Amino acid sequence: MVAGAVRTLYVSAPDVGFVHDWLNDKAMFLDRDGRREFEKAHSGLRVKSPGGLMGRLREIKSAHEVTAIRRAIDATAEGLLLAMRECRPGRFEYEVQAAVEYGMVRNGASYPAFPSIIGSGPNSLILHYEQNRRRMEQGDVLVMDVGAEVEGYAADVTRTIPVSGKFTPEQKKVYAVVLEAQQAVFAAAKPGAAWSELENAARKVITDRGFGRFWRHGVSHHLGIDVHDVGMMDTVRAGMVITVEPGIYIPAADTTVAAGYRGWGIRIEDDVLITAEGCKVLSSAVPREMGAIERLMNSRNGVAAKGGRSKP
Ligand code: GLY
Ligand code: MN
Ligand code: MN
Repeated sequence: MVAGAVRTLYVSAPDVGFVHDWLNDKAMFLDRDGRREFEKAHSGLRVKSPGGLMGRLREIKSAHEVTAIRRAIDATAEGLLLAMRECRPGRFEYEVQAAVEYGMVRNGASYPAFPSIIGSGPNSLILHYEQNRRRMEQGDVLVMDVGAEVEGYAADVTRTIPVSGKFTPEQKKVYAVVLEAQQAVFAAAKPGAAWSELENAARKVITDRGFGRFWRHGVSHHLGIDVHDVGMMDTVRAGMVITVEPGIYIPAADTTVAAGYRGWGIRIEDDVLITAEGCKVLSSAVPREMGAIERLMNSRNGVAAKGGRSKP
């Protein structure tokens, strides 16, 4: 009956790998051979994954979805701002994690959209570091890669800060390259651009500045219901919300650079909405310029930490 009317059957079992074949009332595995067998038993029927269709539907966000993502980003920003003020040598990564997550939830988040990555010193090199147990030291950088979830939608923002409140000259140099790479991607992110143009824009800056061998991951992914949301990564389209997250990671053992550059990484990640003209950065409430980060970190309750005076 169904086989006569239905030409294509979309079956979603990405994690499980098998479904109940309701046409024949038996469990079956949906690997390639299973699909073939199913098609053979029902002449004219094609069995496909709905992934491609769903990806296309989910990659363009409605106004309501953009509002939810913005709220998630705003809650994330509050968490990061609090964490920047709370970070200092001698504290533990989990104390910063607690500040970020407290700031998020206090500002409308249901919970973190993914395990918070709070990696200081050598842990800044671990892309999905989640232990958050290390005691932070003077001279460390701290990568905070975090995101709130609001109404089922995720944010995904990274800031790299100096634990002491002041970047070293080497950290400044690398940070400036990552920031420049991010600006290049912002400029390239517009409707009609190939996804590879985003990657190439970041790669060119980082390579031209001599850090190309320390580039370790893609520069963008879709953001939405999942932090790594589904969607094609072929052409950039208006209405997409994507991340822009270049990074440079220099291993401790790399002797091709001076000692001050070794054993830490820097990532800067922002979330952008692709508009008709280009892209709009949604996560600018958290400073990403080095001077602004240092000023924020060195202010405590309106009193500058060193040599400042109370605000009126
Ligand atoms: N937080 C994971 C990522 O940036 O992709
Ligand atoms: Mn992230
Ligand atoms: Mn990301």
